[in-house]
Amino acid sequence: MIEITVNGQTHHLDIASDTPLLWALRDKLGLTGTKYGCGMALCGACTVHVDGEPIRSCVTPVSSVASKKITTIEGLSADSSHPLQVAWIAEEVPQCGYCQSGQIMTAAALLAKSPTPSDDDIDNAMNGNLCRCGTYSRIRKAIHRAAEMKGSKA
Ligand code: FES
Ligand code: FES
Repeated sequence: MIEITVNGQTHHLDIASDTPLLWALRDKLGLTGTKYGCGMALCGACTVHVDGEPIRSCVTPVSSVASKKITTIEGLSADSSHPLQVAWIAEEVPQCGYCQSGQIMTAAALLAKSPTPSDDDIDNAMNGNLCRCGTYSRIRKAIHRAAEMKGSKA
């Protein structure tokens, strides 16, 4: 039995210790906002936060995060009110949408550390999150927009 804390809730999972966190989230907890893309830490579709850091849940054994705080796209805000979610909608970022929860989770970790990121900061942080639909320019605009919203609330 493995205990994990996801979006503020503690769960006890009957699961092999080397199961990737992604499958614990999707198959055991029904948190399907986190996506499977490559399964090899190459695309970023499976990005979640562990203690605030963006990680690839497809290659992270569930046992390695047992004592840590995990946040998924479902836990970013209770009502889609996180500035990134608002900005993503305003800028109409998604196309097919498949990569987008991973994009938003990586962007959220960036903004938590760097409230007013430059284009270079954004490009460096988002570098490992691939989008087959090529929404990169809208992603960058949305991150700037979210940063302005956060700034205006401060
Ligand atoms: S599915 Fe994890 S990085 Fe691609
Ligand atoms: S929106 Fe389609 S892969 Fe990114």
